[in-house]
Amino acid sequence: MGFCKKITAFLLLCIAFLFRKHNDDSRNGVASNVGLNYGLLGDNLPPPSNVISLYESIGITRIRIFDPNPEVLNALRGHRGIGVTVGVKDQDLAVLSASEEAVKGWFATNIEPYLADVNITFITVGNEVISGPIGPQVLPVMQSLTNLVKSRNLPISISTVVAMSNLGQSYPPSAGEFTPQAREQLVPVLRFLSETCTPIHVNIYPYFAFASNPVNITLDYAIFNTEGVVVEDGPMKYSNIFDAIFDAFVWAMEKEGVKDLSMVVSETGWPSAGNGDFTTPEIAATYNGNFVKHVRSGKGTPKRPHCRIDGFLFATFNENQKPAGTEQHFGLYEPTDMKPIYKLF
Ligand SMILES: *[C@@H]1O[C@H](CO)[C@@H](O)[C@H](O)[C@H]1NC(C)=O
Ligand SMILES: *[C@@H]1O[C@H](CO)[C@@H](O)[C@H](O)[C@H]1NC(C)=O
Repeated sequence: MGFCKKITAFLLLCIAFLFRKHNDDSRNGVASNVGLNYGLLGDNLPPPSNVISLYESIGITRIRIFDPNPEVLNALRGHRGIGVTVGVKDQDLAVLSASEEAVKGWFATNIEPYLADVNITFITVGNEVISGPIGPQVLPVMQSLTNLVKSRNLPISISTVVAMSNLGQSYPPSAGEFTPQAREQLVPVLRFLSETCTPIHVNIYPYFAFASNPVNITLDYAIFNTEGVVVEDGPMKYSNIFDAIFDAFVWAMEKEGVKDLSMVVSETGWPSAGNGDFTTPEIAATYNGNFVKHVRSGKGTPKRPHCRIDGFLFATFNENQKPAGTEQHFGLYEPTDMKPIYKLF
């Protein structure tokens, strides 16, 4: 009898522990799904070590940098809780695509020195160069880097970042299909990523869709500010344009025979100034806040309801060396004093 009671008490403890563990895991797990882009096109940005402290203070565990900046990577040493996506610069692609030796040299210089104490999870080859004049340089570099990390057994995934301009059709989502140039340049990359089980990285900006057609796209639909069904596409119902654009890309991939390839949203965001009433801190806060909620809800899109969204907000700081206008106002923080431009985290 006593023994059974002990067993029962033990089992109850186990169950309680499992529940607590499960809750903790899900909280950490979803929080870690929202990352931040860390762009450096400003002449008034804070030192990287301050920025890393900021990330840790707001619980950011994933960041993306656009090139292997040594100052940033050195500041990340020892902060292994932060997963880092590192970009290969577009200007380097010509040389790297011409020779596997050049890729080995690039890796030895830019990645190798940090492997021991920086948590580099992804290398993305080129930023929005597919489709375009240097688009064909991407796949050979991805192949060389994939061979290299495989042969070394390193836990780094190799991908590339593409824009939604690869879609020739995106409305309704089920009509999604790639442009002829994307069919040439992007589809082979998607097939390669399917083979290596690595997500494609996509930049999705409802802001630009809305700003270019505010007559037919309502602000509420663009900023996740309605629960109502705005677009019905067969059995799928859309109340925000983010999901609609995401799914248009999924449909376009399927039409090329690429099924079940996962997608990471490498950039999304909304500017807080630069275009009158469309770009206020309140609207930017609403869009970004709702995006974070969407990610943390663990829900997917109507076409992929069970695949939770993995995404990075663009960007950490307003960058004054980007083109004038909205481009300089995507930041969540002021560069000079690191104060939030609006409350988000
Ligand atoms: C490295 O980053 C990834 C992605 O954020 C995370 O899942 C992993 O736990 C991190 N590794 C360590 C050692 O913390
Ligand atoms: C808005 O929708 C109307 C009606 O469907 C269409 O005729 C018009 O071309 C659209 N405007 C734009 C800018 O897409």
